[in-house]
Amino acid sequence: MRVLGIETSCDDTGVAIYCTERGLLGQALHSQVAMHERYGGVVPELASRDHVRRLLPLTEIALQQAGMSTAEIDAIAFTQGPGLAGALLVGAAVGTALAFALNKPAIGIHHLEGHLLSPLLSEDPPQFPFVALLVSGGHTQLMRVDGVGRYTLLGETLDDAAGEAFDKSAKLLGLGYPGGPAISRLAEQGREAVVKLPRPMLHSGDLDFSFSGLKTAVLTAVRKGLADEQAKADLAFAVQAAIVDVLAAKSVAALEQTGLDRLVIAGGVSANRRLRDTLERAQADRAFRAYFPKPALCTDNGAMIAFAGALRLAAGEVAPVPDGFGIRPRWPLSELQAP
Ligand code: KG4
Ligand code: ZN
Repeated sequence: MRVLGIETSCDDTGVAIYCTERGLLGQALHSQVAMHERYGGVVPELASRDHVRRLLPLTEIALQQAGMSTAEIDAIAFTQGPGLAGALLVGAAVGTALAFALNKPAIGIHHLEGHLLSPLLSEDPPQFPFVALLVSGGHTQLMRVDGVGRYTLLGETLDDAAGEAFDKSAKLLGLGYPGGPAISRLAEQGREAVVKLPRPMLHSGDLDFSFSGLKTAVLTAVRKGLADEQAKADLAFAVQAAIVDVLAAKSVAALEQTGLDRLVIAGGVSANRRLRDTLERAQADRAFRAYFPKPALCTDNGAMIAFAGALRLAAGEVAPVPDGFGIRPRWPLSELQAP
């Protein structure tokens, strides 16, 4: 089965074709980062308009790469939520219209399910069940995953998401958007333990997170004044270390609590080098294995949506074209059901 996947939930337009027999056949992606950068964050209306401009040309590129015509597509998967309403509408409208014209099924996919399943696209995929740490710009959650659509929430952030903590701290430091890669780059020049920042909820005894206090601590440090570039880099180092320490410790705690020994890390923040190194080091001591998506599949992309759609359709899920495209800008992952 060949599934065309469309992702337009935020600031990336992604299209890909996944074949259940031959894997990923083509993919095209356009990041809107350069467009939103001057505003210091994503401007929803600009995002929707850019998706409108990019989606069909990118679909043509992905089809060309796959050496296929639209007639050879068996189904279409699009991100139904969560995300920016206007941005979601673009992918949903194009996806359902294409499906209608081709007389093929269209299936709406939960964006976080796309992230969550993306490590399964690697050559050495994890088996179910596993613990998943989902860390993106809008979400920070620990889930127990027993199969496609079988998700139990173990813990989540009570306020800001981990990616948001990176983005807001970067803004306070005068770095560009998105903040994660910017902080991470500057932190390479930073020194360990020069600046001390809190590790919120590290010892809370549960699997929840809180990152809004970190932003306040960064604001206080910035207001006190950063003498030079070195001071700025030391603070960037401390921000990254604080976020990574909490994410890693809670992930290990989730493995202990569930008795599972596989950890999947997904979402934009899973691209973070320090998070990868920390969890890779922890694996040996704690007897678990960490699985990351390929770097290109960490942030938003069409491949993860095509793949999640293919898994659901292959498992027999019937996908009626939803009324009014059925977009769900807010949509808890734990509401999903197995196909
Ligand atoms: O999954 P994603 O592309 O979009 C959402 O669904 O939110 O995640 C974007 C988030 C942003 O907050 C960005 O700063 C963060 O992922 N991010 C990183 C890195 N690359 C992206 N955070 C830390 N380190 C990185 N290397
Ligand atoms: Zn995402």
